Amino acid sequence: MNANTSAALDRIQPSATLAMTGRVAMLKRSGVDVIGLSAGEPDFDTPDYVKDAAIEAIRGGKTKYTIVDGTMELKEAIARKFKRDNGLTYDPAAQISVNVGGKHTLFNAMVATVDAGDEVVIPAHYWVTYPDIVNFAGGMPVIISAGANQQYKILPEQLDAAITPRTRWVLLNSPSNPTGAAYSAVELKALAEVLLRHPHVMVITDDMYEHIWYAETPFATIVEVCPELYDRTLTVNGCAKAYAMTGWRIGFAGGPAWLIKAMAKLQSQSTSNPCSIAQAAATAALNGDQSFLKERNAAFQRRRDLVVGMLNEAIGLHCPTPEGAFYVYPDATGCLGKTTPKGVVIDSDERLVDYFLDDHQVATVHGAAFGLSPAFRVSYATSEDLLTEACGRIQKACATLR
Ligand SMILES: Cc1ncc(COP(=O)(O)O)c(C=O)c1O
Repeated sequence: MNANTSAALDRIQPSATLAMTGRVAMLKRSGVDVIGLSAGEPDFDTPDYVKDAAIEAIRGGKTKYTIVDGTMELKEAIARKFKRDNGLTYDPAAQISVNVGGKHTLFNAMVATVDAGDEVVIPAHYWVTYPDIVNFAGGMPVIISAGANQQYKILPEQLDAAITPRTRWVLLNSPSNPTGAAYSAVELKALAEVLLRHPHVMVITDDMYEHIWYAETPFATIVEVCPELYDRTLTVNGCAKAYAMTGWRIGFAGGPAWLIKAMAKLQSQSTSNPCSIAQAAATAALNGDQSFLKERNAAFQRRRDLVVGMLNEAIGLHCPTPEGAFYVYPDATGCLGKTTPKGVVIDSDERLVDYFLDDHQVATVHGAAFGLSPAFRVSYATSEDLLTEACGRIQKACATLR
């Protein structure tokens, strides 16, 4: 038997966030009182009107294969969403792709377009999955570092310096997972001006956290602020975070017809259509009353303020206040080099996160997984009571380091 795995598989790592979620589940099963702040998943339930639409779809026989990259009903709902929220016009038949989660959307786009040696520019801190998808496709991630001193946002000159003749894509994500950093329209415009000088470069904007937004100025996406980039931008979004539909697995994108067609070709030989029931649910989510998004956003903002306040009181941590998503990303420089009561030296953010979990039963994700250390990611998509308890444990953990 040949148990060797493929070179493509060997180029990627298992997802660090999903690995931590697995560790938390195991600890909980064995009775440990662990608080999980590692999963990127809202604690809110999927709205009832969405669940009702799914049940109706089952009863109504929407249980068969659909068009590979989405039903026309859903594509039309997505095109309306892009018009309503972002002022973007896409032809539902030719310019919208529906996939099995946003991760799949990004995977399709990369695998359909990246050849060996192609470069993909990724600002760090990045969502753990980005470099792995690029590596899987045979491309080369080119990382730009943006630390807390620049509010975790890249500068136009950094972008310009990272682009080469081999650059195929630039991958933007605002609000960001893991830092919550959110680019204003003015900041996006400055990046767009750089991109206009490099017409061979395609742009992905991952807007998954669009509706979890606290800044005074409204959310903006790059084609909205720079329509000249329309023909070479894939605008990615999905139902997971805004509608608390992580398990339903619906992601989508609007973009140039040739790219949407290429993604459908790949999908036709892998997953085929996303689940027909989930597509019906997503159609209802996008077409329904959107007012609950504001209420949920206000709840997230209260939680953010609670967590930022408490973590900034922890010795050795510095926690910037993010303007979007449901993550904070405390800098842990002040904890490095210290020793735990059990004598373990904290020589990396991975060791710190292990200490939080093993000795204080709080699960977070270490910063190295997101491309810059020393830091860790806290997901605050859980109740204020649990967050208060968890941040109290982190404060205690930090205070007992020597
Ligand atoms: C930045 C970002 N993009 C895309 C996704 C993909 O979401 P899903 O595949 O659950 O739709 C996630 C999920 O965590 C994310 O954080």
